[in-house]
Amino acid sequence: MSAAARQMLLAAAFGLAAGTAGAAPARTAPDAQALARGEQVYARCAGCHAIEGNRTGPQHCGLLGRRAGTAPGYAAYSEALRATGWVWDARTLDLFLQDPMQAVPGTRMGYAGVKDAGERADLIAWLQQAARPGVACRVLP
Ligand code: HEC
Repeated sequence: MSAAARQMLLAAAFGLAAGTAGAAPARTAPDAQALARGEQVYARCAGCHAIEGNRTGPQHCGLLGRRAGTAPGYAAYSEALRATGWVWDARTLDLFLQDPMQAVPGTRMGYAGVKDAGERADLIAWLQQAARPGVACRVLP
């Protein structure tokens, strides 16, 4: 390979790296608009859920990093959800929230899901902030 070709390859590699670096913060630190949209999507969940207390559904405070079916003080979990063994993170939430009853047949969450991928991403970004461990649990079970 000629020196010139090597230089072009290097430039392309750095270009890619720069592009990746530029995109990464958008994923790890969602902008305020995305978070506001996510909070609006959560209004659909609020008939059954609250961040800081058990309702029809389990409380969501401390959700991220917690094993499915283990919210403190919530006794009405389905065997199906507990048996998944999932730990809630962006990937498992995305899978579940897209179509809960398909993702976990037998779940007691009677909700059709958030079909729009962008809405799900905003919702999950908001949950990652609002329900992160140790911060959001204001009410004890
Ligand atoms: C009709 C009531 C209802 C609605 C609406 C609802 N949920 Fe649920 N949710 C439940 C119930 C009940 C469970 C327990 C499911 C089980 O044990 O199978 C649950 C479980 C969950 C879990 C698992 C929690 C854990 O501790 O393992 C998550 C995450 C969740 N819901 C998120 C949401 C989100 C986000 C929305 C809105 C997009 C939503 N739910 C809408 C009733 C609801």
